[in-house]
Amino acid sequence: MAQARKRDSWGSRLGIIMAVAGSAIGLGNFLRFPAKAASNGGGAFMIPYFVSLFLLGIPLMWIEWTLGRYGGGFEHGTAPGIFHSIWQKNRFIKYFGIIGIFGPLVIFIYYTYIESWTLAYSFFALIGKYGNLTDQSAMQGFLRGFQGLENNQHFNGLGPAYLFFLITFILNIWVIYYGIKGGIERLCKWAMPLLFIFGLILMVRVFTLGAPDLTKPDWNIVNGLGFLWNPDFSALKSAKVWLEAAGQVFFTLSVGIGVILTYASYLSKGDDVVLSGLTASSTNEITEVILGGSIIIPAAFVFFGPQNIQEIARSGVFNLGFVTMPLVLNKLPLSAIFGFIWFALLFLAGVTSSVSLAQPAVAFLEDEFDISRKKAVMIFGAVTFILCQAVVFFLGNGVVDELDFWGGTFFLVLFATIEIILFAWIFGMEKAWDEIHRGADMRVPRIYKFIIKYVTPLFLFSILGIWFWQEWIPIIFMKNISLGSRPFIFGTRIGLLLIFLTLAILVKIAWKRKRAQLEKMR
Ligand code: ALA
Repeated sequence: MAQARKRDSWGSRLGIIMAVAGSAIGLGNFLRFPAKAASNGGGAFMIPYFVSLFLLGIPLMWIEWTLGRYGGGFEHGTAPGIFHSIWQKNRFIKYFGIIGIFGPLVIFIYYTYIESWTLAYSFFALIGKYGNLTDQSAMQGFLRGFQGLENNQHFNGLGPAYLFFLITFILNIWVIYYGIKGGIERLCKWAMPLLFIFGLILMVRVFTLGAPDLTKPDWNIVNGLGFLWNPDFSALKSAKVWLEAAGQVFFTLSVGIGVILTYASYLSKGDDVVLSGLTASSTNEITEVILGGSIIIPAAFVFFGPQNIQEIARSGVFNLGFVTMPLVLNKLPLSAIFGFIWFALLFLAGVTSSVSLAQPAVAFLEDEFDISRKKAVMIFGAVTFILCQAVVFFLGNGVVDELDFWGGTFFLVLFATIEIILFAWIFGMEKAWDEIHRGADMRVPRIYKFIIKYVTPLFLFSILGIWFWQEWIPIIFMKNISLGSRPFIFGTRIGLLLIFLTLAILVKIAWKRKRAQLEKMR
């Protein structure tokens, strides 16, 4: 008989809190959040944001920690096995769990590439490669040249981008190769404190900008903060603003993706999840709202003024991070150092998230096929390396947006809906409540029993319903995609379907194998 494989585990409670916070704190906190807040009603955006946080994010976070720890007790670290342990009589539920491996895998494919740009730019900042660029179009040209979208005086071909991609990719694989305690936990324990230090340095620098142009005293930091936070309550009438706020909460907390399930599966049965989960989520929220909200938008306001800031905020996350922010920092003394700190901050935020995105697929191979971690990481590395090529070479054809929509938006909401129905309705709310509180260091407020059972599922169904009603037809028929990009988007969709089908076949084979093993033992 095959020897029982020992599952990995966390070294300490602080370790898992840092790792989950590391997964949550990512490019979303420093780029996606300020862009969303600024273009969706400023301070008013925080109303749907906090409503979504308390009614979706926090309950789902507790559910994922609990489900993960529960599944880990059955040696399952990913959703197919965890869902099956919850509803053993149902033969199909494990296939719904595939989303919890598919989603993070798809996000990993494009996230690592974008993360590699932050590493490249931190190097460029230090050597002053973009230090003499002073306007939007020059900085945009630099970015496009780097991305291989045009040849110009800065770059000729994809060489540098590919080199930094290789370094970033290998670094990710190297971290996961060393496992939960030896790789991920060790990385997060030093990367997270460093990230906070970098974030604080930048926040203090931005707060002390004052009004750098004496001829324009209104272009000052107080008005910059006011631009981001003054509420425009009329935005609350728009369904889109509510959807965007809910989407941001999912993305930033890393809920609905599948990674918290996997991380929590390495806990022991009696480990607390209530306080640990809340601590990791609060750390993420403080970083997002305080640090994320204090750096890029107020700084851009001070240098570009009230007329241009709206357009800048709406120009997309890549533009904000890789064009606007380097331009702002170029105007400061010690610009190379601050440029380096900004991109190193993004890189640390990125790498602590991307390793978490890799872990579900690796855990699936280890747990369900009984193969060693090192072999599982090698298989994962080989497959994702091939898949990443599509992102590197077809970046200009909308491939990243397409992957982000399915892997990073739609399936998150769908997966969260399946999780909560399983947990509150199939497993049953009474059992679920006891399971959440096993080993807990604090009680969840009782109102959450009602919220988890009724409010969160209803909220999720409404989001899905509105989405189907408003978006289904244009998305399926690629109405908002240029004719030239349609073949690439179609190809991406076929690729996604093939990944999903492959995972479904793997689940089928894994369960067949396990059944055969059980029969043999009888
Ligand atoms: N939660 C991660 C982020 O915010 C994915 O970037």
